Amino acid sequence: MCGIIGYLSNEDKDIVPILIAGLKRLEYRGYDSCGIVVCNSKSETLIEKSTARVKKLEEKAKNHPFPANMGIGHTRWATHGLVTEKNAHPHCDCKREIFLVHNGIIENYKTIKEKLKKKGHNFISETDTEALAHLIEHFFKDNLEDAVKKALKLVKGTYGLAVISSRDPKKIVIAKNASPLVFSINDGGEVLVASDATSILNFSRKVIFLEDKEIAVLTSKGFKVFDMESDRLKTKEFQELDWTIEKAEKSGYSHFMLKEICEEPEAIRNSIRGRIIAEDGLAKLGGLEKVQDKLREIEKLFLVSCGTASYAAEVGKYMLEEYAGISTETDIASEFRYRKPILTKKTAFLAVSQSGETADTLAALNEAKRKGILTLGIVNVVGSSVARQTDAGIYNHVGPENAVASTKAFLSQLSIMVLLTVFLGRQRDMSLVMGKRILGELEKIPDLMKEILKESEKIKEIAVKYSRYRNFIFLGRKYNAPIAKEGALKLKEIAYFIHAEGYPAGEMKHGPIALADKNFPFFFIAPSDSVYEKTISNMEEIKARNAPIIAIATKGNEEIKNIADDVIYIPKTLEMLTPMLTSLPLHLFAYYAGVKLNCDVDRPRNLAKSVTVE
Ligand code: AGP
Ligand code: GLU
Repeated sequence: MCGIIGYLSNEDKDIVPILIAGLKRLEYRGYDSCGIVVCNSKSETLIEKSTARVKKLEEKAKNHPFPANMGIGHTRWATHGLVTEKNAHPHCDCKREIFLVHNGIIENYKTIKEKLKKKGHNFISETDTEALAHLIEHFFKDNLEDAVKKALKLVKGTYGLAVISSRDPKKIVIAKNASPLVFSINDGGEVLVASDATSILNFSRKVIFLEDKEIAVLTSKGFKVFDMESDRLKTKEFQELDWTIEKAEKSGYSHFMLKEICEEPEAIRNSIRGRIIAEDGLAKLGGLEKVQDKLREIEKLFLVSCGTASYAAEVGKYMLEEYAGISTETDIASEFRYRKPILTKKTAFLAVSQSGETADTLAALNEAKRKGILTLGIVNVVGSSVARQTDAGIYNHVGPENAVASTKAFLSQLSIMVLLTVFLGRQRDMSLVMGKRILGELEKIPDLMKEILKESEKIKEIAVKYSRYRNFIFLGRKYNAPIAKEGALKLKEIAYFIHAEGYPAGEMKHGPIALADKNFPFFFIAPSDSVYEKTISNMEEIKARNAPIIAIATKGNEEIKNIADDVIYIPKTLEMLTPMLTSLPLHLFAYYAGVKLNCDVDRPRNLAKSVTVE
């Protein structure tokens, strides 16, 4: 999920500046710690790590000049284990002869670690990654790539990987599964590897991108790429990149926000990966295991958060009450703290926060702790304050979110709400059949979202067409009432010359309808669900007042075109999962409207990514 760099040359020289320069180019992605290892022609090695910035790592390394001919480096975005030097990469085997840097998650690391510990391997970090270093050691005979291949056959999870060994020098072995890797080799026999092209462009524009399930051996003489499953050699051609550094940072997208919206299907995959036991209809949430007995006793949940995260919590309330049978309240964190919620021993508090540093959410969490109730968190940033201060929790695992607007983290929060609902529901009345059904449909969501992404051009046209209006109302019912609020928040955040509000559709006739006229568009979220007929009645009321109408509807619903002026279609899914499909087009709508109005979509005026003041 974060950054990898690797470098190899024919001769020992000061290669640290090359690795550091590569890591600096990766800093824009966000990271929590960093490290490098270099190896010289006498098979001696030097590791440096830092939990501060790459600059600090550079200063540390300057104190130990160490000519070397190969090295790897990493910027870490912790998923397993706190932000400490021990957990920072590179990781190594017991004998400190095999070193690796890894982006992604080794899902079955616990099983691997336990088995290897029994065989006498000595682990020093809390990371999933270290298990892989020892597994490679376990298989190592005299050839590094063979050992990596054997190890990866036993690994479940995602990885971008760069491995070097002083026992088999002068080569870098790299492998990829769902986490990008690119490399280049120049005429002088220098090899450069990176997790994104930003670190390579200054070195060469001729690159090879690895595909999933490919493993490559890179030396000064050339490269070999193998298919991991068949072990067959693959033919790969260099491609010439015409990207600027800026374009490469955004993987070719014009903004981080668009990149992150396009990553929403992947974000859901990353959040649910390894957390579904399909045959038993169970959600496996490792972070909650230690409090699972307490959770069985809970009769009331408070979901507390701010902004976009609070809309994920509101969707969660509908799910938890309908399917887990738990009475759930949602609170805006800055309100929870100052009111007097009734908290009993059978109450749990759940903070939802991408950053885990939002001051209001932290203050509410402290208030809940003071009352002695069980506190939980759904957090993206590992080791953040919310993660540290709660009793137990669930990480999103979606990697850094760069744009100020929360998009892929929001989708991840929704998918975790589904997992939590099944987790708590199966402790209670939810049947095996229902558990299986929900999880089975959840696994299909990323592909359904990709279908919506194919409609981006159409959504763009609609956004451009409506961007001349200065006011919007978003309406939806039940699971999509919070999504109406999310649509409105995104539009006003990103296309900040437009004012927008989101309401439960039924509330429209209690006030907002007064605004309806030909200059005031209404955006309806109207999938074919249990409240569809009611939503359509509200739409008719708006149509009767001549206001322009955009609607999100389920594919196959042609009749809606008679009422709405423009329709965006989403595929069919379970009612409780529709928010994942309806929020994606709303994110795109806000993005394209913002671009059309020349707004600074990645860094909108007056906003900060993490709001650390009350
Ligand atoms: C989302 O687009 C916003 N920028 C904002 O509402 C954000 O979701 C809110 O500040 C909460 O942040 P958190 O998830 O990091 O706690
Ligand atoms: N899962 C690994 C860790 O927590 C890698 C994280 C990353 O992608 O940076 O160390």
